[in-house]
Amino acid sequence: MILIGNWKMAPDTEIEALALAKETALAAKKAKFPVVILPPALYINAIQKKTKLAVGGQSISPFADMPHTGDISATMLKKAGAAYALIGHSERRASNIETNATVAEAALRAYEKKLIPIICIGEKDRDAGGTYLGFVKSQIETAVSQIPKAKIKDVIFAYEPVWAIGAAAVRPATVTECREMMIFIRKVLADITGDTKISKKAVILYGGGVYEENAKEFTTEGEASGLLVGRVSTEIKKFSKLIQAIS
Ligand code: PGA
Repeated sequence: MILIGNWKMAPDTEIEALALAKETALAAKKAKFPVVILPPALYINAIQKKTKLAVGGQSISPFADMPHTGDISATMLKKAGAAYALIGHSERRASNIETNATVAEAALRAYEKKLIPIICIGEKDRDAGGTYLGFVKSQIETAVSQIPKAKIKDVIFAYEPVWAIGAAAVRPATVTECREMMIFIRKVLADITGDTKISKKAVILYGGGVYEENAKEFTTEGEASGLLVGRVSTEIKKFSKLIQAIS
C-alpha cells in the first residue's frame, strides 16, 4: 500500500509549499503506509530538508546528462533528495511533452539513477469493443521496454483513465472498472516478464477523481495497491481525511 500526492502546478511559493508539506507530514504520521508527495521540482530540496516526507519529481528528462534546455535530469532530482519520479502523466502526454517513446527513455534514466519510476498509463476514452485495452497494453510494453525484465518489479504503475482525471473529469472509475484494469495490467506484466511472481507483486495504483469518500473502495474491492491523488493532495483537510479513510 502506498499513497502518492501529485501537487501538479501548486502552490505558487516555497513558503506555501513548506507549510503544506509540514501539514502533510503530520497527517502522514498517522498512516501505516508510505505517503509520497510530488511537489513542483523547485520545492523538492527544501521540503526534503525540512520534513521527513518521501518526495518525488513530477517528470524527468528522457535525456541522459547532456545539455537540454529546460529539463530536469534524473541525477538532479536524485541529488535534490527525490526518491521517486512520475513519468508519462496524461496531462503531459496530452500536449506531447511526453510520448510512449520518451516515457521509455525516462524510465531507463530513473532506473539508472536509482529513482523509483511511477509510470502513468490509461486510456483517453472507452469503447464497447475494448480497443482501450490494447492501447493500455502497448503503453505498458513500450514504457518498460528499455529496463531489464528482472527490474520491472521495482516499477510502480499508476492506472489513470484520462476521462477520470481533474476538474473536467466525466466521473471517477467504478470499483469494478478499477478491479478489471488491475487484473488486466497484472496479466500484461506477466506476459512481458514471463514471471507471475513479478506480476502478482507489482505495485499498481489507481488515480483519477479520488476523494476521501471513495478512496477506500479502490484499495479494497478495487484491488489497487495504492492511490495517486491530484487535487485533494493539496487540500490538507481533505487529504488527512483520505489518509484516515484508507488507514
Ligand atoms: P485528480 O488527478 O485526483 O485531481 O483527478 C489525479 C492525477 O492527475 O494524478
